[in-house]
Amino acid sequence: MKKARIVSGMRPTGSLHLGHLEGVLKNWIKLQREYECFYFIADWHALTTEYEDPKNIRNYTREILLDWLSVGLNPEEAVIFIQSEIKEHAELYLLLGMITPVPWLERNPTYKDIIQNLENKDLATYGFLGYPVLQAADILIYKAQKVPVGLDQVPHLELTREIARRFNYLYKSEIFPEPEALLSEVPKIPGIDGRKMSKSYGNAIYLKDTPEVVRQKILSYVTDTLRPRKSDPGDPENRCVAFDLIRLFYSPEEKERVIEDCKSAKLGCRDCKKELAEKVISYLTPFWEKRKKMESKDTWWEIIEEGNKKARAVAKESMEEIRKVIFEREAH
Ligand code: TRP
Ligand code: SF4
Repeated sequence: MKKARIVSGMRPTGSLHLGHLEGVLKNWIKLQREYECFYFIADWHALTTEYEDPKNIRNYTREILLDWLSVGLNPEEAVIFIQSEIKEHAELYLLLGMITPVPWLERNPTYKDIIQNLENKDLATYGFLGYPVLQAADILIYKAQKVPVGLDQVPHLELTREIARRFNYLYKSEIFPEPEALLSEVPKIPGIDGRKMSKSYGNAIYLKDTPEVVRQKILSYVTDTLRPRKSDPGDPENRCVAFDLIRLFYSPEEKERVIEDCKSAKLGCRDCKKELAEKVISYLTPFWEKRKKMESKDTWWEIIEEGNKKARAVAKESMEEIRKVIFEREAH
């Protein structure tokens, strides 16, 4: 049986951290085997908010692609590519724009939210309003059935479905399947300060951090604040942020040992976090090694060019069909 198709993208607006790895990439890697996957860097989407200062988009594109490849997105299994290399996305975006009512876009909750909260940027642009139309084009051009995304993207996906439905209805075709969101259980990765790990909070451990930086960041994790001295018994499961990381990286036996030694005041926080740091470092080391091998432009670009070619071939074929459906329908 033919595998169902998946499309998902990430905007190149920052470096990837442990939260992305555990929350998104692990899932994408798993899906590679079960589905025909198209994963891409949404650099045009990044431009909708970064248009005044686009110079970082290129760097983050390269960086994220290196992160993807080094953690195990596999170009033999998935099609990995860059949105702006496939000009067909732009053509479909234009065509979908013709049929998308502006009120659908204006009532998009993400749109309203961002317009209100980003005071330092002028986002009253046509491009930003059209963000979900471009996203619909990304998905529909590959006729994806499923789209792995976070909860925040569900309204965008609903719009994609509405646009697909409207297109099929207007042009009496069944060209576009209505794609469904593929929501997955996302483990909560705490940052240094206990809030959700995020670039904007400055509390993240990045995949490209060096061992020294990882060590120093883990040593600054918040621990049980009711335990100022080692001789005070701790409550790791309820009061320690560092322990929330320990949960993710330790075996059940190792966890038990930490809980016991912390509760009995045998283990001090500094020693505990030092051990955790070494664990995280050895977890990341294979990724760092793989990344090193691909860092030269010749190596990674060659891989991505292959992905671009595969994506382009599919997108071109879809566009032929789509143009026909719009312009060459038989007159009734
Ligand atoms: N809007 C998505 C985000 O910010 C990125 C994205 C662009 C995307 N095009 C997509 C995700 C297509 C899934 C499918 O995360
Ligand atoms: Fe947290 Fe470890 Fe300190 Fe216990 S010993 S409070 S688990 S850092």
